[in-house]
Amino acid sequence: MATACPPLSLPSTSLLRGGRSARAGPRRRQLSAVRCSAVGEAVAEAASAGTAEEPLLVSAIRGKKVERPPVWLMRQAGRYMKSYQLLCERYPKFRERSENVDLVVEISLQPWKVFKPDGVILFSDILTPLPGMNIPFDIVKGKGPVIYDPLRTAAAVNEVREFVPEEWVPYVGQALNLLRQEVKNEAAVLGFVGAPFTLASYCVEGGSSKNFTMIKKLAFSEPAILHNLLQKFTTSMANYIKYQADNGAQAVQIFDSWATELSPADFEEFSLPYLKQIVDSVRETHPDLPLILYASGSGGLLERLPLSGVDVVSLDWMVDMAEGRKRLGANVAVQGNVDPGVLFGSKEFISKRIYDTVQKAGNVGHVLNLGHGIKVGTPEENVAHFFEVAKGIRY
Ligand code: CP3
Repeated sequence: MATACPPLSLPSTSLLRGGRSARAGPRRRQLSAVRCSAVGEAVAEAASAGTAEEPLLVSAIRGKKVERPPVWLMRQAGRYMKSYQLLCERYPKFRERSENVDLVVEISLQPWKVFKPDGVILFSDILTPLPGMNIPFDIVKGKGPVIYDPLRTAAAVNEVREFVPEEWVPYVGQALNLLRQEVKNEAAVLGFVGAPFTLASYCVEGGSSKNFTMIKKLAFSEPAILHNLLQKFTTSMANYIKYQADNGAQAVQIFDSWATELSPADFEEFSLPYLKQIVDSVRETHPDLPLILYASGSGGLLERLPLSGVDVVSLDWMVDMAEGRKRLGANVAVQGNVDPGVLFGSKEFISKRIYDTVQKAGNVGHVLNLGHGIKVGTPEENVAHFFEVAKGIRY
């Protein structure tokens, strides 16, 4: 099946100013055009997207000259895939699927085998470290995450332990090592953690929340208790990122999914300082590890997100990519922005949105991705189309 090239009428000078990481090389030439090649060509070149030294995704984040934007999807392993659904029948418990090294590797590789994305994200969850911190949890079908004893008092927070990854999640390190062996540098192996405020939201609310009343009650009446909890998550997640990097993760994404429930002033008190502390701590020991920050609904906070010091900010789809770029500034790369709902559209529409996003993001420091996780029910053939078109692009 061939993919029609889009009617590109791109200006010869780029719409954008390319971002680059604070520690990246010099800014590259601007986008002159976006080309697409035939699907067969795109698939054939997939294996050579990375180099022996560095995967394409890492090069792009570092602001190096690359031939096309790397592409991966948030939640790319999971329920939209038939192979995952079949595996869930054999292993119905999420915690079993995500805490057994063989299953973690198998599930992480399911999308890699079919779509050859440029990033292979570890199959796990932001909540996976919680039992190691003395916070029991489960993910219940139809309900989502459940924290059995929500943390709402000083006494409860005092019981929270610092996380020692090698002791509590050795399967994560083993899985990352195995993924590196499997994927080589044809794609980047990606680790991830939850940001302190987002983890605290789950633990204080007791699970997913609509109104975030419990955590706000704590934040706005007994802030010292919340700060104590946030500090514990900060120290623990900084260590967890280092552990993931030491075991093969080539970039790590920090999910602060719920930070945008905070007003800018409250974000500056309850999220940003902790994000910055994590980044500073990781930089001390792992100065070259690319860090990506994602917060959904972050339009009102965009200018503040790069203050965390991360290399990449992942945008949702509520902001225009070109405007987002401008607001983020030139020192940070950009990821995301395609509405996950686009993958329910026609193939032509999907192609068009990819080209629009790539054109607006420009040829420096861009990682193509969705603006949030891929949705359950997304047709796998549309996902295949997304990757084919994306990998056929040439700057
Ligand atoms: O991207 C990937 O493919 C890696 C896997 C991954 C999962 N969770 C697997 C998972 C990642 C990166 C996460 C991160 C995560 N987990 C976030 C941050 C991203 C975001 O969506 O904002 C959050 C907030 C969580 C907490 C969590 N875990 C939620 C809200 C849910 C969904 C509950 C539900 O049933 O809908 C989970 C469970 C979960 N984690 C699933 C997957 C694939 C779905 C359950 C399943 O497959 O059985």
